[in-house]
Amino acid sequence: MEEVNLADISPVVEKYRGRHDGLISALQETQDIYGYLPETALCHLSRELNIAMSKVYSVATFYAQFYLERRGRNIVRVCRGTACHVRGGKAVLNSIENRLGIKDGQTTGDYKFTLETVACLGACAMGPVIMVGEKYYGKMTPAKIEALLDTF
Ligand code: FES
Repeated sequence: MEEVNLADISPVVEKYRGRHDGLISALQETQDIYGYLPETALCHLSRELNIAMSKVYSVATFYAQFYLERRGRNIVRVCRGTACHVRGGKAVLNSIENRLGIKDGQTTGDYKFTLETVACLGACAMGPVIMVGEKYYGKMTPAKIEALLDTF
């Protein structure tokens, strides 16, 4: 199991102890702290909140918002929608994959980046579009990708 400091989620445990409706919120807050849901933390929540591990695990795996694997500090989202595709989105994705040495859904070995593709980032006029964290970057090109990723 992953080494995490369970003391980090003590406030979460105290907040949701004895509450039967708090599991999803407890998982969200735990993920906010660690960036994902370590198995150790799930076991700890199960024990401390007195919720069966099977229930904790089924909720954690049911919702797409929860991640059971450690993710990068920077989440790079690349649009693979049509509007971005026709403006060179595939070349942008390829350049990110080559630069980081990872494919869609993977995380770099130093946990600096996780790469994801999404159907549309909702900023089609700016295509090709990517996001890093919560910030949008439009009209991307492979050359711009090089410079951008160097800033993280
Ligand atoms: S198609 Fe890329 S943002 Fe919509």
